[in-house]
Amino acid sequence: MSEKRINLVTILVGTRGTGKTTFLKKAFEAHRKTVLVLDTFDSPAWQDYPLVKMDQIGHLKSGVKARCFSSDTNHMMKAVEAKAYNSTLIFEDATKYVGSKLTPDVKRFVLDSKQKNLDLVFVFHSLASVPSDLIRICDLITLFKTKDSLNSFIKHKYPEEGLHKAFERVKAHPSRYYNETVEYGG
Ligand SMILES: Nc1ncnc2c1ncn2[C@@H]1O[C@H](COP(=O)(O)OP(=O)(O)OP(=O)(O)O)[C@@H](O)[C@H]1O
Ligand SMILES: [Mg+2]
Repeated sequence: MSEKRINLVTILVGTRGTGKTTFLKKAFEAHRKTVLVLDTFDSPAWQDYPLVKMDQIGHLKSGVKARCFSSDTNHMMKAVEAKAYNSTLIFEDATKYVGSKLTPDVKRFVLDSKQKNLDLVFVFHSLASVPSDLIRICDLITLFKTKDSLNSFIKHKYPEEGLHKAFERVKAHPSRYYNETVEYGG
């Protein structure tokens, strides 16, 4: 039987140590699709995911969970754009891959992700640092505590009120690890 093909682009935002990686690991524990974590360094948090080299990105077995890291994020993004399909890609420290503005290549890659059966998760440290193009394209935003303030700049960048309300609830919550996931535009 084929699994339902619903591909999502998720933005995960939270400042250092708010539990983003822990949340993601848990979320994908029972996940049957291939999961590939892309990082800029060999983070201890993902050590139990086997390490693969960039040239293996297109050759992962179905259902495998793996990690790949490189400080050359341009090279890594190119490899992913060319080879990744049928999997979930987690971009830890997404700012390094997508910059403050999406390049035409990356934008096309995100727009084509559904055709390639890719789920994409982009991890950021602040709402302010997410590129506007990505906000427009995304399906879900998972909000942890951030150092942002809900000023007119942020409200303009994220026009949906549901996000503002979630932001206030997350901010007011006593737990450092509290988060909410909001369906966004898409
Ligand atoms: N829900 C939780 N309850 C208790 N402890 C948690 C929870 N989530 C995460 N932690 C702990 O908090 C610490 C930071 O978690 P984690 O590495 O997941 O955060 P992060 O947001 O990914 O941090 P960074 O931005 O540095 O990557 C870890 O020691 C982790 O075990
Ligand atoms: Mg982390």
